[in-house]
Amino acid sequence: MFSHFAATRFFDCAAIHYNTGIPYSHPISQIIMTQDELKQEVARAAMQYVVENEIIGVGTGSTANFFIDELAKMKDRIKGAVASSEATAARLRSHGIQVLDLNQVTSMPVYIDGADEITPQGAMIKGGGAALTREKIVASVAAKFICIADGSKLVDLLGKFPLPVEVIPMASAVVARKLAELGGEPRLRLKDGQALLTDNGNVIIDVHGLQIADPAAMEAAINNIVGVVTVGLFARQGADVCLLGTPEGVKTLAF
Ligand code: 5RP
Repeated sequence: MFSHFAATRFFDCAAIHYNTGIPYSHPISQIIMTQDELKQEVARAAMQYVVENEIIGVGTGSTANFFIDELAKMKDRIKGAVASSEATAARLRSHGIQVLDLNQVTSMPVYIDGADEITPQGAMIKGGGAALTREKIVASVAAKFICIADGSKLVDLLGKFPLPVEVIPMASAVVARKLAELGGEPRLRLKDGQALLTDNGNVIIDVHGLQIADPAAMEAAINNIVGVVTVGLFARQGADVCLLGTPEGVKTLAF
């Protein structure tokens, strides 16, 4: 495995001598790729999945932001986008991409979004950006979920990343007690010392310390707790494809 923050990639490339300014050839040079550069690479690779003259579903987060910046280059060749958060809608609009109301959309070929963790089977934890509910709703309308992630997100067992659960505010204490019964440590997500509110006006409880051996079963169990709006497990409807940014280039995992 490689670091969360940087990865090394080997290239045949030319370089400029620091003193003389004369180009010289390095047979193999080492280029350190940051996590952001890996995210940018997968965002670029995701463009092959954008269907011209169609509507596209767009996720939330830093990887999705890189994707939006790429999508802007072909904005005149898509019908518009459905956003999974207010932040994504604002970024799409800032590029002149039309944002459509999901209530006016019956189908879309693809939804493209990042993940906090993804397994080799395509089950994901999402919601690090607090947009899990709208992400799951938009993804449910799309024919395919294309996950774009840097390689640090690939895990054999979900749960090292605290599992986000969107909860109706008045139910936060009772839901936290039920989540603790599942073996995790629930913590209310804060922003500036106050409970963070989602785009839907709800709170997020992050469940730490889970080891999620059966993601689909846990997704169903948590969604069944009264007061839960959505759990950030995307297993019953996981990714169809994952574009993973690695030091060796973008790897495509199909599920
Ligand atoms: C937001 C999400 C994001 O997809 C997830 O947090 C990954 O974010 P990033 O691309 O910034 O690593 O689920 O709710």
